[in-house]
Amino acid sequence: MKFFVDTADVDAIRELNELGMADGVTTNPSLIMKSGRDIREVTKEICDIVDGPVSAETVATDADGMVAEGRELATIADNIAIKVPLTWAGLKACRTLAGEGRMVNVTLCFSANQAILAAKAGAAFISPFIGRLDDINLDGMQLIADIRTIYDNFNFKTNILAASIRSANHMSEAALIGADVATAPPDVIKKMASHPLTDKGLDAFLADWEKTGQKIV
Ligand code: G3P
Repeated sequence: MKFFVDTADVDAIRELNELGMADGVTTNPSLIMKSGRDIREVTKEICDIVDGPVSAETVATDADGMVAEGRELATIADNIAIKVPLTWAGLKACRTLAGEGRMVNVTLCFSANQAILAAKAGAAFISPFIGRLDDINLDGMQLIADIRTIYDNFNFKTNILAASIRSANHMSEAALIGADVATAPPDVIKKMASHPLTDKGLDAFLADWEKTGQKIV
């Protein structure tokens, strides 16, 4: 499973990229707002850091507007994936932009039917939002599993990009289901390294080592 980093924080992206843990980046209008930076400037900086796809989101609500914005965002760098919302207009824009050979990430997906339409429209990525479904007492991870089954049934090539990931458990669950990509905030990716038994075991080893009085270097 590929890891995308769901942030516009360039320092965090740089750190994860150096560890080989940033196969791409996803941003959205809220993350750009949080960064406090100009969308073109920050997106260009991110594209210079990572080799993989960097999603930049359109904000128009009509298809022509999304296409115009998508083309403009694509001028920032070759690795831009244009993000459009899963509306009827977004699907039209996806079809046009994908037809021009551009990577399109169809976002704000909350149902298997929406995911089918995105694949038919030529999306490179579909972004089902796990956490936001869980927030309303639905099962976000079940949606990932349903889309995996459907895409496999029909050999759809669209990559399943599990999004709105809120916990380290979401990452392993998405991997078990076979999501192609999971995008998560940097702190969630770092939390994947934590285990209380690791901390406990390390404390015991260090305490015993201290008693030997030895040094390795
Ligand atoms: O990848 C989409 C993500 O940014 C949304 O996450 O936590 O705002 O639902 P969240």
